[in-house]
Amino acid sequence: MVRINEHLAGRLAAALNLPDSERELVARSFSLPPRPGMGDLAFPCFPYAKILKTSPAAVAQRLAGQIEPDSLLSRLEAQGPYLNLFLNRPEAVRLVLDEVFTQSRDYGRQDLGRGGLIVLDYSHPNIAKPFHFGHLRSTYLGMELAAIFEFLGYKVWRKNYLGDWGTQFGFIIYAWRTYGEEALLRERTIDYLVELYIKANKEAEDDSRVREAAREYFRRLEEGDPEIVALWSRFRELSLAAFKRTYDRLGIAFDSYEGEAAVNTRVAPVVERFLKAGVARASEGAIVVDVADVIGREIAPCMLRKSDGATTYAARDCAEAIDRWEKHRFAANIYVVARQEDHFAQVFAALKKLAAAEGWGVDWPERCENVSFGYVKGMSTRKGQAVWLDDVLDEARDRAKALRKHNEEVSPERLPSLSPQELEVVSEAVGQAALIYANVAAKRLSDITFDWDKVLQFEGNTGPYLQYTYARMAGIFRKARENGFSLPDRWEARAEDCARLISDEEWSLILKLRLFPQAVRRAGEQREPHEIAKYLYELATLFNHFYHRHKVINPEDARLTRARLGLIEAVRIVLTAGLGLLGIRTLEAM
Ligand code: ARG
Repeated sequence: MVRINEHLAGRLAAALNLPDSERELVARSFSLPPRPGMGDLAFPCFPYAKILKTSPAAVAQRLAGQIEPDSLLSRLEAQGPYLNLFLNRPEAVRLVLDEVFTQSRDYGRQDLGRGGLIVLDYSHPNIAKPFHFGHLRSTYLGMELAAIFEFLGYKVWRKNYLGDWGTQFGFIIYAWRTYGEEALLRERTIDYLVELYIKANKEAEDDSRVREAAREYFRRLEEGDPEIVALWSRFRELSLAAFKRTYDRLGIAFDSYEGEAAVNTRVAPVVERFLKAGVARASEGAIVVDVADVIGREIAPCMLRKSDGATTYAARDCAEAIDRWEKHRFAANIYVVARQEDHFAQVFAALKKLAAAEGWGVDWPERCENVSFGYVKGMSTRKGQAVWLDDVLDEARDRAKALRKHNEEVSPERLPSLSPQELEVVSEAVGQAALIYANVAAKRLSDITFDWDKVLQFEGNTGPYLQYTYARMAGIFRKARENGFSLPDRWEARAEDCARLISDEEWSLILKLRLFPQAVRRAGEQREPHEIAKYLYELATLFNHFYHRHKVINPEDARLTRARLGLIEAVRIVLTAGLGLLGIRTLEAM
């Protein structure tokens, strides 16, 4: 808990005669008063009215009269059911800055997880099928959630559950055997495989024999026909190598790339278990689990085996979840997947039924979650065509570069000059930031409409804006050094400096810095990295307001300069940490 909150919560809890264990709850209930003049924090008294057998307003009145101001708390005022708290600014500034400086890059880190492990299933493209925007958004959300959970004290098992099994392989193998060309495969790998898949699929629409042939190939694959398995394995390796090159570019890696194929060999015994426990039943040659009763709405049964004997996506997910539990004893098992709500509801419900029937000690299916998200619209691609993440990254980089060149021509004096190598690094980082941020600028469940021109702007709610704000701070420190100010390696919050930070702009920044740990916590609890994006955008905006209104470097007032540089350093620390959680790179100049 942030020290200011801890102190205030302690005073309030004491006045209310609450046990120490309630302090955390008190601290979490602080909100911001509707208008700045009404205090720095508001404490809602509703929950305590019942206990004290009076009205919330009376509780607020009583607390306002009873609590004596101290070095941090300058004044208390009852406002209806709220108790508004006014802080003694210099002391609050000192406490916040001291906390940021001492914890430095660990500021905001918390131990909610207590070492518990979260299995995070994300990105998970399908081999030889298009990598679409759903996979792109899942990749970003997953990488952000992984970083956030680790910051909150969890271990994270990053699982790329590849779609490397299923009937699509029947189509690809059919196409390859019928008209595949070795030279094209070598040259274009995944693009070519997707092309084969799409072509065979189209053919099958008009010609049922193609569908039959594909089904037959998949059956041979499932039976382990060595020739067919060898083809499958080659296609998988080629695709995985291509995916890994893209992941490298994003700076991410997974703990496991084992997907549906690996678990497929373990499906049969799991289906047997479902049958033996009396949870599954035969239905027209297929094997299904009824789940509508568990889920409480009309929904198809969970199909574990098709009538032609083929395994199913759902059966694989059941077997895989059982495996994950046995290997990891997870605190949570999270699937970052959109538009598969029914599938996951069915799988989790089937597992719950098995848990009840077999009498598992731990009800771990309760810890399985589907974290869904909205569509990405407006990124121009030809319909039916694969959207390779790598192409999107290229496009972002090239556009960032073109924009920078354009800006150099229009206003060269505003931009630092970059060497050609620096320009490459900056364009790549800015392009990626634009994409990442576009995906996190709204809550995950909302659809996003993508606009290349907008997301690359240095102004507005964009990734490049945050990078630009960071670079601006780096520039201020460079200028300070040029002006003869020596900057400490480790900053300290000295009372005499903090007393100089009295403007409203500075105070707003201090109050905002205080809220970073809370934003991180919320992002983790709600599986919502957007909370961090929103926080950073507000922080950056407050910083830029401050910067436009106040001169930072004042050679005639060294103490004020030092104080303001310290404040900027604290903002820089928090911005760095937050951007790190989103996977956005910082740049010293851009
Ligand atoms: N590969 C699947 C798809 O692209 C998503 C896999 C999600 N993870 C899982 N365990 N089912 O649709």
